[in-house]
Amino acid sequence: MHTEPMLRPGALKGKTIIVTGGGTGLGRSMTQYFLELGANVTIASRKLDVLQATANELMAQTGGQVLAVDCDVRDYAQVEKTLAATVERFGAVHGLLNNAAGNFISPTERLSHKAFDVVVGIVLQGSYNCTLALGKHWIAQQQPGTILNIVTTYAWTGSGYVVPSACAKAGVLALTRSLAVEWAKYGIRSNAIAPGPFPTKGAWDRLFPEALHGQLDVAQRVPLKRVGHHQELANLAAYLMSDYSAYLNGEVVTIDGGEWLSGAGEFSFLETLTPDMWDQVERAVRGASKKS
Ligand code: HXC
Ligand code: NAP
Repeated sequence: MHTEPMLRPGALKGKTIIVTGGGTGLGRSMTQYFLELGANVTIASRKLDVLQATANELMAQTGGQVLAVDCDVRDYAQVEKTLAATVERFGAVHGLLNNAAGNFISPTERLSHKAFDVVVGIVLQGSYNCTLALGKHWIAQQQPGTILNIVTTYAWTGSGYVVPSACAKAGVLALTRSLAVEWAKYGIRSNAIAPGPFPTKGAWDRLFPEALHGQLDVAQRVPLKRVGHHQELANLAAYLMSDYSAYLNGEVVTIDGGEWLSGAGEFSFLETLTPDMWDQVERAVRGASKKS
């Protein structure tokens, strides 16, 4: 059931959506579902060959229209070029999905300042560049718009070993909530999704590399004991992009099987106790209560 498309056919018909990082991973999966629901999509990132291959495959698969634009989201001029190309091809743009990211695990003291810059640049500068360009456009055109940002669950907790990403995603979360209020008067909604682990080559190569496989079973860290399925995320993204979510503004929806709360809960570690150990614990705790 959770692997099935959720929205009614045509739910995004007539909409044009720009998806940054739409050539690979989760961006590609969300793009595919937007197309299935009737949207036109511009996919934008650095590698035009990857984007073009994805565009051709998804157009053949869904019958939808995809425009591939090479765009480094850190460069405002390239973002403006992407917007202009989208308007020229599809006539208008209605949604922005800030999905492009850079990330890798590393002790922070091993990072050069350029390594910090590159991650913060892609995630935070990239998201505000696209948001600013689209926001100015929508306000000038007196047209409503929908912004959806992909953050992470550590955007609010922080996390060691991915510190540039944590700083940048926290900034994107602040951007989401700030503009939800400021730009609501223009009919521009801003929401975010905080995914837990959803297997993609981009994330797995950099965050769960083979060298760690013996020590780390990602699914076991999740209370539901599984990773996410791309369609689950695509269902949520399509809902937040669609007019069905018209009253949702400034929200960040976590979709992680309970992972971050499990890490945060003081006693979540008791998960590993066996029934026999619980018998002993209960006897000890009840005995202690009687004495006190
Ligand atoms: C330390 C590193 C490094 C590493 C790169 N650098 N990798 N430092 N450890 N593993 C340093 C380089 O030495 C260089 O600094 C600086 O970072 C820039 O590196 P480049 O390779 O020149 O940059 P570039 O080619 O632009 O590549 C950017 C990138 C790369 C971020 C490093 O990984 C990339 O293109 N990523 C895009 C896709 C991606 O990251 N997807 C995963 C998103 S997953 P110096 O000083 O040497 O010049 C995600 C989910 C999180 O966000 C949550 C999961 C549950
Ligand atoms: P991915 O496939 O590596 O996607 C990242 C995309 O960003 C790539 O398509 C890449 O394309 C693009 N990109 C990188 N730098 C760019 C730049 N400077 N300008 C434009 N585009 C750029 O990884 P993913 O797992 O699908 O991640 C997608 C999103 O989900 C990210 O925001 C990530 O933080 C978030 N997320 C993922 C997970 C997970 O478990 N997978 C969990 C939480 C959050 P190019 O290389 O062509 O530029």
